Amino acid sequence: MLTMPAAALANKKRMILGVTGASGMIFARKTLQMLEADARVGKIHLVISGAGLKVLREELELDLTKSAEVAAALAGRPARKTEYLLDSDIGASIASGSYPVSGMIVIPCSTGSLAQIAHGISQTLIERAADVCLKEKRPVILAVRDTPLSRVHLRNMLAAQEAGAEIFPMTPAFYHRPKTIDDLVTQFCCRVLAHLGLEQKKQFQWQGEKRRP
Ligand SMILES: Cc1cc2nc3c(=O)[nH]c(=O)nc-3n(C[C@H](O)[C@H](O)[C@H](O)COP(=O)(O)O)c2cc1C
Repeated sequence: MLTMPAAALANKKRMILGVTGASGMIFARKTLQMLEADARVGKIHLVISGAGLKVLREELELDLTKSAEVAAALAGRPARKTEYLLDSDIGASIASGSYPVSGMIVIPCSTGSLAQIAHGISQTLIERAADVCLKEKRPVILAVRDTPLSRVHLRNMLAAQEAGAEIFPMTPAFYHRPKTIDDLVTQFCCRVLAHLGLEQKKQFQWQGEKRRP
């Protein structure tokens, strides 16, 4: 939990990290680790959908039975800046536009959550927080994952993008020549964070074909 003095926090970003029930939980873990390690970030509000918890158990084999330990379990290390909120907690701070945040990342974003967010249906905290960010013109990144994509998914992506969200399909790049899955995931997360003004030193920058070291 957060121990930082209020004055110090005032200059730092508050971020919302939504984790929904699509495959790719390794990306959620890396995003949380990078936000935790980033000195520009003061607080992270972590919300995981019911299906998200299920997929987390499946892919990362996490024990998520104790709410107080979920953030650290996902980060794989202490997560002192992170507040874990239940997806049913519709009265949480981030459900209101009066509570300032710098942006929201939904990673991974299921096609179900995409549909809800694209159409402003705010039944869960993740959906409501995204709805609030959109109405307040705050950045929302949806790292949508499924394959293949139906026409419904494609229409919903367009609707969400028109409403102000940024569609960031979970399609990692290979031109930086990743040696490990961690390289692959890290570079994708670097791109996501850069879109929220959190450029990372370890982000690969293409310098042109002939300038490769
Ligand atoms: C192991 C597992 C993997 C899944 N992978 C995906 C996926 O990649 N993309 C997707 O849209 N839904 C996927 N689903 C289905 C969603 O979890 C399901 O539609 C759920 O209702 C989404 O709810 P949420 O958006 O509230 O998390 C998966 C489900 C399970 C159990």
